[in-house]
Amino acid sequence: MPQVIDGKQISAQIKDEVKEKVARLKEQGTTVCLAVIQVGADPASSVYVGNKKKACAYVGIESLSYELPEETSQAELLSLIDGLNKKPEVNGILVQLPLPGHIDEDAVIRAIDPKKDVDGFHPQSVGALCIGQPGFVSCTPAGIIELLKRSGIEIAGKECVVIGRSNIVGKPMAILLLRENGTVTVTHSRTRDLKEVTRRADILVVAIGRPKMITKEYVKDGAVVIDVGIHRNENNKLCGDVDYEDVAPVCSAITPVPGGVGPMTIAMLMYNCVRSIELQ
Ligand code: GUN
Repeated sequence: MPQVIDGKQISAQIKDEVKEKVARLKEQGTTVCLAVIQVGADPASSVYVGNKKKACAYVGIESLSYELPEETSQAELLSLIDGLNKKPEVNGILVQLPLPGHIDEDAVIRAIDPKKDVDGFHPQSVGALCIGQPGFVSCTPAGIIELLKRSGIEIAGKECVVIGRSNIVGKPMAILLLRENGTVTVTHSRTRDLKEVTRRADILVVAIGRPKMITKEYVKDGAVVIDVGIHRNENNKLCGDVDYEDVAPVCSAITPVPGGVGPMTIAMLMYNCVRSIELQ
């Protein structure tokens, strides 16, 4: 059976490292503060935001919470962000996505000061990542690199295939794997003969957003499989984009859902909050 990559354990380790750094900063008189903004009351977003605030409390990062009504105008949101950009005591600004349809997400992301962009979504952060300059890296793909490294999985020289090309996961994932000297292929909905491409992968990162789509026919014997998906199945149980029971027997390492990639996103957000002190 494969090595099961334990995202709960690795994320706990990272949070404890961040907690120590936060304590050391406090001794030097520096506090770390994250502003978290949610517009509307989407239940999934409320869970994510609640977990982010809990993680802040655990590592000793102050969090400021802004829960705005669904009908908040774009101008009001931009004005709040502008105020937070100007506050020196606020180190990070996070606007939970998705936003209500009447708000232009790109405009909101661009409004965040890149020095406080702890989600790593600002075009300046993405551009810096692409050319190997310092900046914030999107939390989920950064967390996947940590999962691989801390599980002793070598990336350099490996065939890495990413399924999905989103701005938040697929694209930054590809750039990060390239930075680690992987040979990277990005696939998407228009890829011809997807199975033929994914079967080349030594490391397969799956971020499609379709429950249990990836079966063993997509996976080479001995591959490492990273599952970014999270869904509820017909029995209300969590599952990923990968059919775990089918795929696990053929791979050398795999992330479970839940308990794989999910917990890493928040751990890396905490890491980015501390990095904001360095970047500021
Ligand atoms: N919505 C889903 N994932 C994320 C994330 O990583 N950051 C933000 N801000 N919103 C999200």
